[in-house]
Amino acid sequence: MFMKKILVTGGAGYIGSHTCVELLNAGYELVVIDNFSNSKKEALENIKKITGKDFVFYEMNYLDREKLEKVFKENEIEAVINFAGFKAVGESVEKPLEYYINNVSGALVLLDTMKKFNVKKFVFSSSATVYGDPEIIPITEECKIGGTTNPYGTSKYMIELILQDLYKSDNTWDIVILRYFNPVGAHESGLLGEEPKGIPNNLMPYITRVANGTLDELSVFGNDYNTHDGTGVRDYIHVVDLSIGHVRAIEKLNKENSGIYVYNLGTGTGYSVLDMVKAFEKANNVKVKYKIAPRRKGDIAVCYSNPSKAKQELNFKTTKTLEDMCRDSWNFQQKLND
Ligand code: UD1
Repeated sequence: MFMKKILVTGGAGYIGSHTCVELLNAGYELVVIDNFSNSKKEALENIKKITGKDFVFYEMNYLDREKLEKVFKENEIEAVINFAGFKAVGESVEKPLEYYINNVSGALVLLDTMKKFNVKKFVFSSSATVYGDPEIIPITEECKIGGTTNPYGTSKYMIELILQDLYKSDNTWDIVILRYFNPVGAHESGLLGEEPKGIPNNLMPYITRVANGTLDELSVFGNDYNTHDGTGVRDYIHVVDLSIGHVRAIEKLNKENSGIYVYNLGTGTGYSVLDMVKAFEKANNVKVKYKIAPRRKGDIAVCYSNPSKAKQELNFKTTKTLEDMCRDSWNFQQKLND
């Protein structure tokens, strides 16, 4: 059966909004929910502007079981992609209960409601953070998971365990777990992108704010790691490539009747902090002032993926370059300031 209506929780957020665009472009019908806790209503208008397509929307918290049941009653949902969740590592250390309630309890309410309505196709946004300090580089899906160092990461790990148990109990579920590496970039239109509240923690939004003068200078957290220039190495993936990964995951669920599948979504290439600074300066012809600062607690030296499994089984291959990531991030930042 060809599956069409997909429920997207957190569809106004950074990765959710870009994925809505790719799903609509691929011909899927969407039901989107969001409570705008970390996103804006404009994102929904911009999804429509980019695609010229409409979708059903409910402003609600996915923890609200009654409203969620109403969504399932009013729409013939065939699969769910779960982007709803808090994602700031530092904040999760300050507010563990909020993180566990929103991320873990939210996922539980969602899965339980799906079960009630006999909807068993599920795509979950996990993170490379579940590998903790990785056993091997590049990281394969077989690497041990756990050893997370903050409630955000632990919430992702817990949900993965819950999904494995759920599948064990009832193997008619059809689940794809996507472990994202470091999402950066924005839609090339400049209409969608990441807008972190307050001072950003992640590298790319920090760089764009130094480049535009909102922040003074970038602190490069450590230059004594065992890497080519001493600074931390990560697998940055363009958010549009990442979003296409979700379309591939849905196609996989279309093909399979049941199963639980785990995929890394990364490019397979690692870049250091200084590589990123240089690439950003070159792509955009701007200066990014930086200083070397002490290592950040909880950081690891190197983290990048082996992307072969997603390539083989999902037919997923990234196409955007580092230059695209830098240019699109900057384009979005500049449009924000207009
Ligand atoms: C972080 C989270 C990870 C989460 C991901 C989401 C931690 C330990 N991990 O990954 O759980 O899934 O974001 O995108 O927080 N850097 C600087 N200066 C800065 C900011 C970052 O030098 O101001 C460096 C970091 O030390 C690191 C690299 O840039 O080497 C990337 O950092 P970041 O964007 O925060 O991502 P991760 O730490 O990889």
